Amino acid sequence: MKKNITFLGIETSCDETAAAVIQENEGGFAKILSNIVSSQIKEHEKFGGVVPELAARAHVENIDFIVNKALMESKLSISDMDGIAATAGPGLIVCLTVGLNVGKSIAAFANKPFVAVNHLEGHALSPGLENKIKFPYLLLLISGGHSQYLIVKDINEYEQLGTTIDDALGEAFDKTAKMLDLGYPGGPNVEKFSKLGDKNFYKLPEPIVNKAGCNLSFAGLKTAVLRESKNINNDQQLKYNLAASFQHTVNKILEKKTKEAMRQFKIKTSHKEKIPFIVAGGVAANMSIRENLKKVSEEMNFIPLFPNLKFCGDNAAMIAWAGIKRFKKKLVNEIDFVARSRWPLDPSAKYLKGPGLKL
Ligand code: KG4
Ligand code: ZN
Repeated sequence: MKKNITFLGIETSCDETAAAVIQENEGGFAKILSNIVSSQIKEHEKFGGVVPELAARAHVENIDFIVNKALMESKLSISDMDGIAATAGPGLIVCLTVGLNVGKSIAAFANKPFVAVNHLEGHALSPGLENKIKFPYLLLLISGGHSQYLIVKDINEYEQLGTTIDDALGEAFDKTAKMLDLGYPGGPNVEKFSKLGDKNFYKLPEPIVNKAGCNLSFAGLKTAVLRESKNINNDQQLKYNLAASFQHTVNKILEKKTKEAMRQFKIKTSHKEKIPFIVAGGVAANMSIRENLKKVSEEMNFIPLFPNLKFCGDNAAMIAWAGIKRFKKKLVNEIDFVARSRWPLDPSAKYLKGPGLKL
């Protein structure tokens, strides 16, 4: 195999239209040749959340420009690529299809290998863009659609230790922001306004915190925020107190559940040396969560690692990087690969959502 491997990555699974050109050098380090992200905040702001059809239309309008910009900034052309990677799931099908079709078309026209990337694998491997990390490691993936503890054993090899049984953490942040009228996007605003509030003002529930292993639940917490928000009557200080109390409760939940995931990791892998604990996904941008989990890692003898903020939220650098890693393992795909709305990293993990769930 040649020394440097270069991939174009494309990402349109939700509300970011993104393209990037990434090179892996001989030593296994990543070189970011370009990383273009066009956020659709303006399109979705007035609705307080992502509207799938609007998102898909914006992807269609932007994708050619974004891909061309990524290529231009990299100073390379399609013919220099060793392959094309595009996110194929999980996510909104109408959105995924846009980037996936563009990726497949470029690969077909230029006669290049194509890799269909699982968005979650993109997040899971994203720390590799900045650090060379050995497998296995423990991962907490917290985004708008997922909240999971995983053992990352290798490329394409994941063991899920826990997942949310209802809302994803990013979703809980977004809904809290909406209930408190703190604006969109929710997560960063809850973080911002929490700084102005008293985190001990409200006592909020910590659902399933002492049971169900390291599975998570945020629906009860969200409902409690809704209940309290109805008594606020536009009092700004109470709003900030509620935002701060929500974030503080999230931190208490994550502290307990992360310790449990770390205990399980140690039993399952019987590793004696210090192992990285990586927190990835959009919510990993939250500084109070970072501080909290850094403390937990030190206490539990793990090495805390957080991707740079630009690699926490959705981006195509992580998709190109996952594409390179899969390509090197000969995990390439056919051009008829279709988008998947659900695509778990650990296919053997029990599906924990829906009625009749017993914990
Ligand atoms: O990974 P991501 O960009 O997209 C998905 O794959 O879902 O994550 C987006 C989520 C949103 O719910 C957003 O509100 C949340 O990440 N988020 C944050 C922060 N920044 C983004 N949540 C809490 N604090 C933040 N600073
Ligand atoms: Zn994501």
